[in-house]
Amino acid sequence: MVTELANIVVTAALPYANGVVHLGHIASTYLPADILTRYFKLKGENVIYVCATDDFGTPILIEAEKEGKTPEEFVAYWHKEYSQDFQDLGIDFDIFYRTSSEENVKLTQHFFLKLLERGFIFKQRISQPYCENCNKALPDRYVIGTCPYCNAEDQYSDGCEKCGRTLASGEIKNPHCAICGSRPVSKESDHYFFRLSKFSSELRKWLLENENLQPEVKSYVLNWIEEGLREWDITRDIPWGAPIPLDEAEGKVLYNWFDNHLCYISTSLKYFSGKGIDGKERWNSSKIYHFIGKDIVYHHFLFLPAMRFGVEEFKLPEFIPTRGHLLLHGEKFSKSRGWFISVRGFLNLFPADYLRYYLSSITPYNPSDINFDWEDFQVKINNELIANIGNFIHRTLTFIWSKCNGKVPEPREYDTSDKEFEEEIRKVANDVGNELGKIELSRGLRRVLEFLKFCNQYFQRKAPWSKERQAETCLYLCINGVRSLAILLNPYLPFSSEILWKQLNLQDSVREQSWDSASKLTIKGGHKINKPHVLFRKIEDEKIKKEKEKLLKLASD
Ligand code: 2FM
Ligand code: ZN
Repeated sequence: MVTELANIVVTAALPYANGVVHLGHIASTYLPADILTRYFKLKGENVIYVCATDDFGTPILIEAEKEGKTPEEFVAYWHKEYSQDFQDLGIDFDIFYRTSSEENVKLTQHFFLKLLERGFIFKQRISQPYCENCNKALPDRYVIGTCPYCNAEDQYSDGCEKCGRTLASGEIKNPHCAICGSRPVSKESDHYFFRLSKFSSELRKWLLENENLQPEVKSYVLNWIEEGLREWDITRDIPWGAPIPLDEAEGKVLYNWFDNHLCYISTSLKYFSGKGIDGKERWNSSKIYHFIGKDIVYHHFLFLPAMRFGVEEFKLPEFIPTRGHLLLHGEKFSKSRGWFISVRGFLNLFPADYLRYYLSSITPYNPSDINFDWEDFQVKINNELIANIGNFIHRTLTFIWSKCNGKVPEPREYDTSDKEFEEEIRKVANDVGNELGKIELSRGLRRVLEFLKFCNQYFQRKAPWSKERQAETCLYLCINGVRSLAILLNPYLPFSSEILWKQLNLQDSVREQSWDSASKLTIKGGHKINKPHVLFRKIEDEKIKKEKEKLLKLASD
């Protein structure tokens, strides 16, 4: 059934608009989704890549307050910063919008009213923590305490980072106010609850029947369902969020996990309406991918589908590709400790494609954690990207430039090894494409490297510098191999592959080519290339040493 859907929507988990996008989020979410979308585009699929900032919620309100800004000013600042970071990293959204947009608030209120009307939302008076010192209701991150499940300390009251549970209001042990540290008192307030438990069997069926969902994640979620799903408190007594559209609930807003994933839909609808397309119809005829990191499995595998089941207007995702956390030298990223590499910090040191290459090569398609290590990064860049990929490109281009006046020779008769190499060029795009289509991006890259190994061995064996007669066919095949490579690498290395395309002196840009044309030999004898220059520069030990020293210093502090 999935293959019959003609269109594709790819989304990446929405970053909170509070300045915490780090390399871990890039590795698990934005980069894999970007690579897949770029691949689909080269395949000629009708695909869009959608994202937005996640603007609402207590953490943002708290931080805006601390900076003396309105939440609107605060999120607008981060929206702009992120847009630049993503652009500089080659993360190429078709639309990057915001959860606080009018469109999203409207859709959220529509979902609320429909779920209410259908009996999936009920009202209940609850006691909730209140700080008498700050004169505030204290939802979620306004309260810090001990996780009742795993006893991890210093956890926010809405969820434990250690064991991954979401926590219901009032569940946290030893609560205290995040602003002033006082022990909160209890105050009563009317809250709305979503009847998550009503969807248990529908969710179970969906999980069991959807073969595209990763088995290890599925079994995790099925366990939660077996343990029994709790009704979900979707109200917050704070002034920042999508207002509850009922007179009786004035001053109350919806929890930001009620509205944020709806922004995948509202943002897609906005994009489609800008193109004159019926958005709802398009959404429902699209294959949907929601890329996430493993810390938000609960929300994407339970809240999100249950709300769509309840409203019955927008189809569920086919894929929720879930990847693990990125560790930095074996330890969790921590902004407060400085154990952290920001996108900007990285880009000040190295080209975006180095990061894309490294993260693609170390991030498998599963929820296990991965490790960013500066030495490993250097090894991968110097020994794979440069010694393997860069080397073949460089020797082919410089040879043609210097020995053939930049003109691709006409091929002569093929010997066995030429035929084998041609066969390899014809095959590789399909092999890499198969991996990409399965979201196995690191495996796709590995297949590209195998191709390069073949290319380098072929070049070495043919030794075009010593046997002139063999050189012509060899160079003709190699330059076509380089062209194929530019296309195959485009999803992974969009910047370098465009530069390479220019060096090859080919028409348009590489992103406008068709993936399948990578298996063809379209550069003809007589084609003139441009003057080559080095595409990738080696990473010197000195630079890595400096970055490692910074970490060592932090570790000893
Ligand atoms: O965990 C987070 O960073 C959230 N901002 C992700 C939101 S994804 C969504 F909108 F569903
Ligand atoms: Zn307080």
